Amino acid sequence: MATYDLIILNGVVVTDTEISEADIAIRGEKIVKVASRGRLQDAKAEKTIDAMGGYVMPGGVDAHVHLQEPPLFGKGSTADNYETGSRSAVCGGTTTMVTFAPQKKSEDTLLDTLQATHEKAKDNCYIDYSFHLLVGNPSERALSEFKTLREEGISSLKIYMTYAALKLHDGQILDVLLEARKQKITTMIHAENGEVIDWMTEQLEKRKLFAPKYHASSHPPMAETEATYRAISLSEFMDTPILIVHVSTPAAATHIKQAQDRGLPIYAETCPQYLFLTKKDLDQPGFEGAKCVCSPPPRESESDCDHIWEGLANGTFTILSSDHCPFRFDDSDMGKKSSINDEFPLGHFKYIPNGCPGIETRLALTLGEDRLELKKFVEVTSANPAKLYGLWPRKGALVEGESDADINIWYPPGKMQPYELTNEMLHHDVDYSPFEGRKMKQWPRYTLLRGQVVWDKENGGLLGKKGNGQFIKRGASELAKPRMDGEWELPL
Ligand SMILES: *[C@@H]1O[C@H](CO)[C@@H](O)[C@H](O)[C@H]1NC(C)=O
Repeated sequence: MATYDLIILNGVVVTDTEISEADIAIRGEKIVKVASRGRLQDAKAEKTIDAMGGYVMPGGVDAHVHLQEPPLFGKGSTADNYETGSRSAVCGGTTTMVTFAPQKKSEDTLLDTLQATHEKAKDNCYIDYSFHLLVGNPSERALSEFKTLREEGISSLKIYMTYAALKLHDGQILDVLLEARKQKITTMIHAENGEVIDWMTEQLEKRKLFAPKYHASSHPPMAETEATYRAISLSEFMDTPILIVHVSTPAAATHIKQAQDRGLPIYAETCPQYLFLTKKDLDQPGFEGAKCVCSPPPRESESDCDHIWEGLANGTFTILSSDHCPFRFDDSDMGKKSSINDEFPLGHFKYIPNGCPGIETRLALTLGEDRLELKKFVEVTSANPAKLYGLWPRKGALVEGESDADINIWYPPGKMQPYELTNEMLHHDVDYSPFEGRKMKQWPRYTLLRGQVVWDKENGGLLGKKGNGQFIKRGASELAKPRMDGEWELPL
């Protein structure tokens, strides 16, 4: 009789392709058997977990996470470091994260950026991790380093169409896309028209409108929709796969869907803030609205959120990420309140650091809403980010002999008393959550990282240690490929 280190019995096993009543056996760091329920009843194992009918899913993969970044977007710097950010992740069922390694415009090379980010993460993470290179300066040298990046296990990068400190012009974007195509790198794009945002900001300032809610007015939906269409056009011209990050407007989603229907390699991401928050959350008494200032901003109404939910359900959005970009609220040095001074006693929207925490709440908030089919939930929160960014089937799957034993075991449906989310329940280094007060119905009961129970909600909570997480070298994308093989030819 085979012996195992751990078996999980009586679960409802959900992957992106299947739901089945099954038992799972783990040896060392790997899943070695997935068998129909009862087949492992008599197996010998060091440890057994009874899932009691709860869902058993691959651990969450969060592919949009900002940690320990320098102040790139104005004043303020991200509150969580690699330790606290990954701690928050694991306590909410995320077992792999892909964070950003940000290159500044003043820097010429990407390899130093990669090295510096490795040093921040090394021995500090509770979960497995990789990096997207954030390209602020696509110099000749930086472009020539894409090949080395691939050898170092980095198969994706991110560029910005807005933010003075990071914005690339269309010609620079084409430079990046051309080299990315050669090296089979997936390019993530923050698609907002920076000039429109600057112009709107001036208009609001002329009218002395500074409150947090005007952040939303300064980022009109049109700025995102136009930039999304432009990004799609640049990608089509270069026949290079792109992923549009944090899509928030229905019109941008429609452009993406139409491009996908034409067979273009266009992928898209959305985030819980666009499913759960609206402009109303920015329009709070005093400075409170600053808590929900992120870019793009939460949109007009619940009907916008409904469109984003629909896009998740119908496959327009490939992945659902947190865009965890935390700033403390009550912090006048580095946090949201750094935008308050004598001239602007309620702050000035343009100085409020952009971003919200959410790495820990992404999975439970979305699953508890019961609006996505279970397989779709696993697809957008775990399987697809792993496929898109070259981590699959090691991550995002439960494949015998192939997948790491990264697993979430949820409470059996209806077993958890509905509760209100408070910030005290969370493990980040941030003094608020934009989702505080929301009714929750789920939370991971157990989380496993490569075979180890690192979260046990009822018995000790966080059991993992910092340093458990490893850097994972990534290969080419399973999903994102150019339409044509061979070299890109200049159209003449
Ligand atoms: C799918 O969702 C997108 C984005 O919300 C929407 O534009 C589209 O009409 C939806 N339906 C279909 C059938 O594509």
